[in-house]
Amino acid sequence: MCRVCGGTVSEFFDFGNQPLSDAFPRPEEIRDEFFFRLAVGICEDCSMVQLVEEVPRDRMFHEDYPYHSSGSVGMRAHFEQTARELIETELTGPDPFIVEIGSNDGVMLGTVNQAGIRHLGVEPSGGVAKLARAGGVRVRNDFFEQSSATEIRAADGPADVIFAANTICHIPYLDSIFRGVDALLAPQGVFVFEDPYLGDIVELNTFDQIYDEHFYLFSVSSVRAAARRFGFELVDVRRLPVHGGEVRYTIAREGVRPVRPAVGELARQEHEQGLVEPSTFERFGTDVKRICGELVDLLRTVRAEGKRTVGYGATAKSATVTNYCGIGPDLIEAVYDTTPAKHGRLMPGSHIPVHSATEFREPYPDYAVLFAWNHAEEIMAKETGFRESGGRWIRYVPGVEIF
Ligand code: SAH
Ligand code: TYD
Ligand code: ZN
Repeated sequence: MCRVCGGTVSEFFDFGNQPLSDAFPRPEEIRDEFFFRLAVGICEDCSMVQLVEEVPRDRMFHEDYPYHSSGSVGMRAHFEQTARELIETELTGPDPFIVEIGSNDGVMLGTVNQAGIRHLGVEPSGGVAKLARAGGVRVRNDFFEQSSATEIRAADGPADVIFAANTICHIPYLDSIFRGVDALLAPQGVFVFEDPYLGDIVELNTFDQIYDEHFYLFSVSSVRAAARRFGFELVDVRRLPVHGGEVRYTIAREGVRPVRPAVGELARQEHEQGLVEPSTFERFGTDVKRICGELVDLLRTVRAEGKRTVGYGATAKSATVTNYCGIGPDLIEAVYDTTPAKHGRLMPGSHIPVHSATEFREPYPDYAVLFAWNHAEEIMAKETGFRESGGRWIRYVPGVEIF
């Protein structure tokens, strides 16, 4: 049943049993690993693409949640720019107030704080919330939902902007989110959120965007319908080049802001792309199977030649690739990553060891699968030594390729 409208969800791909994508076990913890059925479908009524099974939120977002938003130079720049834009366009009145849902380590609110603007991050994961506080950002260590939003409204007054990046798609209980936004948002305020875009996922075969935390894969058509359902209106959309293609949705109370032409334009484009057609998702499923087959064949071939193969970036996305395609330490000996909290741990499910990125060169392997493909430019720029040593990168989206 659709988590948004109660309609019928038509399942289009089953990745089978999968671990939590951001749970990197210590060797002694692998016996207790949690698995769930990762399957995805589309609502026949409201077109919302969603997971069929929900993972309890406390299993994913807790004290030790290892994802640190500030780990990428490119994303830091993106969120500084985002903060500046919001400050210039929406936070212009006397004593403006902005709330961020899923503020993580303060990557966006840091800029807001430096500008001296009243703000609050709502962040359930204690470790990253602490990092944000250490940087001067005000944080409520909590889940955003109707009850917490109502308390914030009572304590701090209405918010001119409610912002979220890569978080709303993590939250199955959209009804409670919208009721919370209704309680907290000023009459003329905006709810702005950006998440991986279904149109890009289908176009580029980025099937690794599908994992436990990404409960929804949003499109203009599904977000517009959801907003309407809860008394809001989708008034603007903008495509973003980050994380393999996202859309920033701007939502206001019904009738208070003009609807920008970009909304209708992207909706039309989705119609042409067949973004609600069953055949589109059949094609997507066929491509996923083909890509996995080609990737495993390539890895087996180079391993048979006695070459050393590793992974680069212990991303959440890579959990889906390694576990669905059946890639273990026999095919990829280790994964290198800059996040200290992932070092000395094992990749979820596949149990490939994770090492510090500083060890990538000791010595360089022959092949490296670029799991953090969304940060390709940043990584290529700093790992030029790998190519110079004769190493080759492997990518798997939009297709398998040595490059
Ligand atoms: N905005 C950051 C972080 C994205 S990761 C960025 O774009 O990089 C998603 C974050 O949402 C995590 O820090 C997680 O703890 C948080 N989160 C998950 N459920 C939430 C909820 N119901 N309310 C607020 N934050 C939530
Ligand atoms: P990311 O692709 O942003 O997200 P997700 O985990 O949601 O799929 O994760 C980037 C990962 O890659 C993160 O663990 C840090 C790592 N990384 C590096 O190791 N080196 C780098 O230069 C960058 C930018 C990221
Ligand atoms: Zn629905």
